[in-house]
Amino acid sequence: MVDFILFLHVLGSLAVGFYLLLPFVAGKLAGLNPQAQVGYAKGIFGLNRIGQWLLIVQFLTGGYLISKAGVSVPWMVVVLVLFVALGAMSGMIAGPLKRIIAHGGEGKAAAREDASKLTTFSTIASILVLALLVLMYYENLI
Ligand code: HEM
Repeated sequence: MVDFILFLHVLGSLAVGFYLLLPFVAGKLAGLNPQAQVGYAKGIFGLNRIGQWLLIVQFLTGGYLISKAGVSVPWMVVVLVLFVALGAMSGMIAGPLKRIIAHGGEGKAAAREDASKLTTFSTIASILVLALLVLMYYENLI
């Protein structure tokens, strides 16, 4: 059973790897023409939605593993803090995308501002996923 849950958890972490790549994808948005920006933003928005569901899977499977893995209390605290921050970022990523989808092509300056917010939030999310992965792999680090 633990083995299978760990498999689901590792499978989920591959999919959540979407956030590792997102800053590179997000960085291309600002250079597109307004119509293309709307389509591009819709694609990222849909993937981010799936990413949010998968984060829930990570949380549930991870919660089960915690009870079996014998990790330290500081490890749990740091993982939870980073994970909550990642959840917040995934919500904040949706904001600028929604605005670009709703007002696509209207205000270039506003779209540029939203594109740069998207890049900032996705860069933070990417760093958080990397940090979580390091903590997961090196469980005895803290
Ligand atoms: C983006 C979020 C996460 C990613 C990418 C991730 C990734 C991983 C990976 C790849 C492993 C396997 C490491 C190994 O076997 O050496 C692992 C193990 C583990 N994860 Fe996560 N995880 C995430 C979130 C969480 C959360 C939120 C929790 C706790 C609530 C958690 C708890 C655990 C535990 C306890 C293990 C150790 C299992 C063991 O060694 O027996 N994970 N995680």
